[in-house]
Amino acid sequence: MSASVDPTDTGLFREVLGHFGSGVVVVSATVDGAPLGLTCQSFASVSLDPPLVSFAVSRTSRRYPRIRDTGRFCVNVLADGQVGLSQAFAVDDSSRWVGVDWEQPADADSPVLAGSHAWIDCRLESELPAGDHTIVVGRVTALAADSSRHPLLYYRGEYRALAGAAAAIPALPADRIVLRGLHAHGRHGVLDAERVTGQSFGLDLELELDTRPAAASDDLVDTVDYGNVATAALAVLTGEPVALLETLAERVAGVVLTDPRVGAVTVTVHKPHAPLDVAFDDVAVAVRRSVA
Ligand SMILES: Cc1cc2nc3c(=O)[nH]c(=O)nc-3n(C[C@H](O)[C@H](O)[C@H](O)COP(=O)(O)O)c2cc1C
Repeated sequence: MSASVDPTDTGLFREVLGHFGSGVVVVSATVDGAPLGLTCQSFASVSLDPPLVSFAVSRTSRRYPRIRDTGRFCVNVLADGQVGLSQAFAVDDSSRWVGVDWEQPADADSPVLAGSHAWIDCRLESELPAGDHTIVVGRVTALAADSSRHPLLYYRGEYRALAGAAAAIPALPADRIVLRGLHAHGRHGVLDAERVTGQSFGLDLELELDTRPAAASDDLVDTVDYGNVATAALAVLTGEPVALLETLAERVAGVVLTDPRVGAVTVTVHKPHAPLDVAFDDVAVAVRRSVA
């Protein structure tokens, strides 16, 4: 099965590239005397002589420029009991380090997360622009591994453990923001009549995220503004007509996932007035899409 590349179809890109399984790292640095961390899946070994590694970071990342300015970083390879850390450091919130056990070994310049499977301390070597990401190359200055642990893996938007690994994967934070019964007039469908007169479409959204930062601060900046999400999602319903509910759901998921705090979203698109020759209450397509 194959499909040519449509640059607007980010869902297909994510879905296919998600078939490449990887580990998960937290890139850490000491910024203004305090630790800062960023979850990354795009880590890779690059060169043995000189010893180089890389990761790709989004050009919209707010934390990476602060890490770059230090000229140093540590790559913490997460162990399979560290799903919580992976989720925590995907959120832009300095209070993420509260309660996190870390140390600064004598031969490392950046924070090392306790319990990591391995750590690789680096000096920033170079940066390479790559589309909407920057490839960051680090020169390795110190490193260590704890082979008694097992790696945390990431595959098709889900955390995994090695088959046969002793430790089980703990459950992800199951926090949700749910929007139900959004509706708007749209002109989607395969029939000409549907394009001309249009009909009402419904939308339910279930956003998966960590709500603890907002609960701690009680500040809207630490969570997703669901009013903005609703407006952006409804703009897809009222926007460019498409033939299929599948396309609508995919587009809505793409819009919702642009907020980096949302780890995954389930989108259900309803078409209660679909032109069917039978009595029915509703037709709906539900999709779940996740980041990275
Ligand atoms: C498992 C996982 C892997 C991720 N991998 C990357 C990655 O390789 N590159 C990246 O830029 N962001 C990645 N992210 C998202 C970042 O951790 C972060 O949320 C995003 O870059 C926003 O960062 P900011 O707060 O600095 O703006 C990943 C998130 C998760 C949960």
